[in-house]
Amino acid sequence: MKKSTTRNKPARAKRRTKAAKGRPAAKAGEGRAAKAGEGRAAKARKGRPAAKGSKKTGSARKARKGSAKPKAAKSRAAPESRARATAQTMAAQQREISVSEFFTKNRHLLGFDSPTKALLTSVKEAVDNSLDACEEAGLLPDLEIEIRPVGENRYRVLVTDNGPGIVKAQVPRIFGKLLYGSKFHRLRQSRGQQGIGISAAGMYGQLTTGKPIVIESRTSKRRPAHRYELVIDTRRNQPVIKRDLEVEWQTGHGTRVEIELEGIYKRGRHGVETFLRQTALANPHVAIRYQGPGEAEEPLELQRASRELPAEALEIQPHPYGVEVGLLLRLLKDSKARRLSSFFRTEFSRVGPTVATRIVEGAELQPTTSPRRVTPEAAERLIQSIRETRIPAPPTNCLSPIGEERILASLKEQIAAGFYAGATRSPAVYRGNPFQVEVGLAYGGELPADDLVTVYRYANRVPLLYQQGGCAIYKSVLGTNWRSYGLQQSRGALPTAPMVVMAHVASVWVPFTSESKEAVAGYDEILRELRLALQEVGRKLATFIRRGQREKDRARKQAYIEKYIPHIGIALQEILDLSDRQEKKVVTTLTDTLRRSRKM
Ligand SMILES: Nc1ncnc2c1ncn2[C@@H]1O[C@H](COP(=O)(O)OP(=O)(O)OP(=O)(O)O)[C@@H](O)[C@H]1O
Ligand SMILES: [Mg+2]
Repeated sequence: MKKSTTRNKPARAKRRTKAAKGRPAAKAGEGRAAKAGEGRAAKARKGRPAAKGSKKTGSARKARKGSAKPKAAKSRAAPESRARATAQTMAAQQREISVSEFFTKNRHLLGFDSPTKALLTSVKEAVDNSLDACEEAGLLPDLEIEIRPVGENRYRVLVTDNGPGIVKAQVPRIFGKLLYGSKFHRLRQSRGQQGIGISAAGMYGQLTTGKPIVIESRTSKRRPAHRYELVIDTRRNQPVIKRDLEVEWQTGHGTRVEIELEGIYKRGRHGVETFLRQTALANPHVAIRYQGPGEAEEPLELQRASRELPAEALEIQPHPYGVEVGLLLRLLKDSKARRLSSFFRTEFSRVGPTVATRIVEGAELQPTTSPRRVTPEAAERLIQSIRETRIPAPPTNCLSPIGEERILASLKEQIAAGFYAGATRSPAVYRGNPFQVEVGLAYGGELPADDLVTVYRYANRVPLLYQQGGCAIYKSVLGTNWRSYGLQQSRGALPTAPMVVMAHVASVWVPFTSESKEAVAGYDEILRELRLALQEVGRKLATFIRRGQREKDRARKQAYIEKYIPHIGIALQEILDLSDRQEKKVVTTLTDTLRRSRKM
């Protein structure tokens, strides 16, 4: 075999040279790869006309079909001729990928896959941050949002808040570094969780316009306001400060973020205005002023419906049920506790002395063992023991649901319907993370009767406008049998009814399906809670619809009485020769009897 290959070699080489003739030179990337792939293989290629990848067009393939054998042999021969990679040539190309480089290529993962979405995502990231910061500082949020057109499909997004501001030294890292934030490592409900949102928006602006992100912030009246102009060095995922100035600020504290970006401004279902209106619906304590990009466009003022801040969500420790072996080993290694029993008591929520002893003894370990000495095998036994030990559910003061009362008040304020209902489930747990589901519903009134139901999805008080189909909330609304609650619903579709359904999932860690935080993943526990909450409002709706139906029937029958009984009276008068008085009496008796009849 080997022998024949050697013998055939010159002929093949000749054919190859012929085939390569006239073809364009290799792509730039391939040229670089050739340079990197040092050694024999690279030398062997030297002097040969560079060949493009072996991929051929469909028509070329078709043209060859059924042609002489030698040509087919040529295409089979090509791969053998290429110098294949070796571990060494591959090693020359292997290097670390910076997180910002990664997300530059995968901007769709962060919600920047279309210019329309990019504009909305940028506003959303800045608004989420402002609301989180204000609430954390115990301040009623006052937000100003402006979208200024600066060219064709180019806008400048400005978001200003009255939050606590950002310490000067932290500004470059927050805005000029992906995966940097204060919320990732803690377990409490907040809009942000990943430490990527605002720097990603800045990076998108920088990539599409070349303009830096501008941040102005002031932390108190006694300190000057600072203005930074930053870009991200995507290769190193590090901020590069372009300008750093002290500036005048009217208010005592707050932050303004300005991002210039390429985008398309659209109104409607996925528009900025819709996002802000839905934000106000779930956050009645927020005041928003929005100036859209339209010429002479009136600003949108969304007043706060309540001066009460949501209950503060407190940070909790992880719950043992949510811990896996890898994380347990890391916690054991990092813990300052000297004994296993105190390790469990201090590092986890809901573990007291009794539970700690049960976990440790269940794994056949001693409570006095040093956490650092626990082997991976013993850690696995600990995990097994945790699963077999009854541990109370995690505390739920880490959550801050909107509350049924507020949901109803907001729905009433924003939607002119005839009936409103709400349901708040008790907190539950998925993978050790507490979460809570609440649902609101508005029905009838001025809502369009012939349209499919509108679904408002929320996660940690943030409206979700994209990826509806992939979201557990939407799937739950779709999967509810609304027919049993008196609505029309075709198989596999939303019901057709004058109705808006709003569902909120609040959690210390919302399991989003991607980094763009647009859809909630379908964990069984979350789907179950959504289903039960929707069924609860569904039952309330059914009672209302049935009552309405009864009322309608009654009114219809009442109308019959008024319409036909007088005619019956006249007919009876004629047939039985009744006097007017007798006829009147018959009509009154008949009307009374029918009104009293149960069927009426
Ligand atoms: N307007 C603001 N006021 C005060 N602090 C802010 C503001 N904006 C951002 N921050 C701080 O910057 C950090 C990083 O923000 P960023 O949006 O990148 O991530 P995040 O909000 O933590 O998570 P996510 O990626 O899910 O949005 C925040 O965690 C917060 O500490
Ligand atoms: Mg954020």
